[in-house]
Amino acid sequence: MKKLMEQMAEELSAAFEKSGYDPSYGKVTVSNRPDLCEFQCNGAMAGAKAYKKAPFMIADDVVAYLKDSQVFSMAEVVKPGFINLKVKGEFLADYLKEMAADEKLSVSAAKEPKTIIIDYGGPNVAKPLHVGHLRSAIIGESIKRIGRFVGHKVIGDVHLGDWGLQMGLIITELKHRKPELVYFDDSYTGEYPEEAPFTISELEEIYPCASGKSKEDEAYRNEALEATHLLQQGKPGYMALWNHIMNVSVTDLKRNYDKLNVSFDLWKKESDAQPYIPGMVEEMKEKGFAYVDQGALVVDVKEENDTKEIPPCMLLKSDGASLYTTTDLATIVERMKLFDPDEILYVVDKRQELHFIQVFRCARKTGLVKDDTKLSFLGFGTMNGKDGKPFKTREGGVMRLETLIKDINEEMFTKIVENRSVKDKDAKETAEIVGLSAIKYGDLSNQATKDYIFDIDRFTSFEGNTGPYILYTIVRIKSILNRFAEEGGNLEAGTILDPVNDSQKNLMLQLTGFGATVENAFEEKAPHKICAYIYEVSNAFNSFYHETKILSEENEAQKASFIQLLKLTKKVLETCIDLLGFSAPDRM
Ligand code: ARG
Repeated sequence: MKKLMEQMAEELSAAFEKSGYDPSYGKVTVSNRPDLCEFQCNGAMAGAKAYKKAPFMIADDVVAYLKDSQVFSMAEVVKPGFINLKVKGEFLADYLKEMAADEKLSVSAAKEPKTIIIDYGGPNVAKPLHVGHLRSAIIGESIKRIGRFVGHKVIGDVHLGDWGLQMGLIITELKHRKPELVYFDDSYTGEYPEEAPFTISELEEIYPCASGKSKEDEAYRNEALEATHLLQQGKPGYMALWNHIMNVSVTDLKRNYDKLNVSFDLWKKESDAQPYIPGMVEEMKEKGFAYVDQGALVVDVKEENDTKEIPPCMLLKSDGASLYTTTDLATIVERMKLFDPDEILYVVDKRQELHFIQVFRCARKTGLVKDDTKLSFLGFGTMNGKDGKPFKTREGGVMRLETLIKDINEEMFTKIVENRSVKDKDAKETAEIVGLSAIKYGDLSNQATKDYIFDIDRFTSFEGNTGPYILYTIVRIKSILNRFAEEGGNLEAGTILDPVNDSQKNLMLQLTGFGATVENAFEEKAPHKICAYIYEVSNAFNSFYHETKILSEENEAQKASFIQLLKLTKKVLETCIDLLGFSAPDRM
């Protein structure tokens, strides 16, 4: 359906044309003087030069054709030549009725749906999820949902890190602790046990322990490197251990992502790309892209206009081992083969930017992707503590995601119980729902590329630009609608009428912005625009609520109109928070 802004621009363009000017001057923008008007058109100013006429004269001509407009209740010329506009209440009400009936609430489905793979999450097997992985999960999940809503085929891939040194470290540490396990017996030829020789908590303790040792003990580190190598060669005992590590970790990861309301279509992993490496490397050599430099196999990726040095992309180390780059390139080969995507979007820490510049350039140069396959990198900033440094535990260690969620939920629980409208049993559940909104909104309301400060007190507040404030607004609407129904009201009756006061008109105008906001948020991969939008809508709703008697309205048709407007507001807010990846409780 046509956006309100488009319909207004059409009306203005027609008036420009009728008065003998180019219709392209009929653009409409939101007013920057909300005290004077709702919208404005600056086309007469722009046209003055072309027509060698004073702008107000052009504006006067145009406005004459807007006198009987069905769209505007006011079209006024302000010197030197601005056209100030106000929308007719009836037109606005009709627009919202159409929007409410539209399945996508006025968002136009993508004309050419694209297949887009989003690479996000990126956890590493056997290492606990930490806050560094939080942003990728939250932002990626939201962009996936927005992309689907605007009509694309979006495939989310967690791209597990399962192939690096961490595996060799765990195997090595296990071997030191339990050398008697069959996995280390080279003469063993039987089946390996089905049960893993460790639990997830043991695994999470083993990794940091091994990682610490390898930093101090060179022999230990070499042992781990050797184990990694043997695993990558397919040594049966190590492969069996790798399988155990995978199963135990993935179960745990899924549980954690579930809690975050984050899910993936694909649970692909770095090791899945390994079979594509030999062929890919061969081809790069044959085509003359890859050459040996100081023993390593590299591809040049620097370009003429580079302002900083972009080092060559390394494919194989001198010992023949592959690298992070190699894996990412081979993953592109695999993705092209399996899904032929129009775009692959990586949602990864911006400190990895150089890596992706190298990978993208190399993939393009060597023809791993088609000319029109987009490779995009959304590099996000760091989540910092109040001290402005990367978020840590009180003791200075890496904060585990589970701990962070627990802290937020406890804080939320306290606040909700203080509110005392909810019973204790419900309060726990509610705290989890609201806590998730605090974390996600706190993150998503910032532009993704920027660093931000994780501030539990601010994020969990019911006031201000926070997730809980948005949920509070939704809950308030739900409770009015419930009360209306309990009093025997029919939620389906009536229709949205002209606004009765300014705050209602403002709410109605805000609601019309939904379509453009969501389309633009996808275009720019910017969930923060949806946050900014629902903050405005919530403010507009709360002003309307404070200034208008809703349930005590005596005119039945008017009351029904308010109810329909509440329903639409609720639908817009709920759709938006779903796009952000959280939901609202019934009470809080
Ligand atoms: N596992 C990586 C890390 O923890 C992130 C992976 C990002 N995705 C990718 N295709 N490289 O840093």
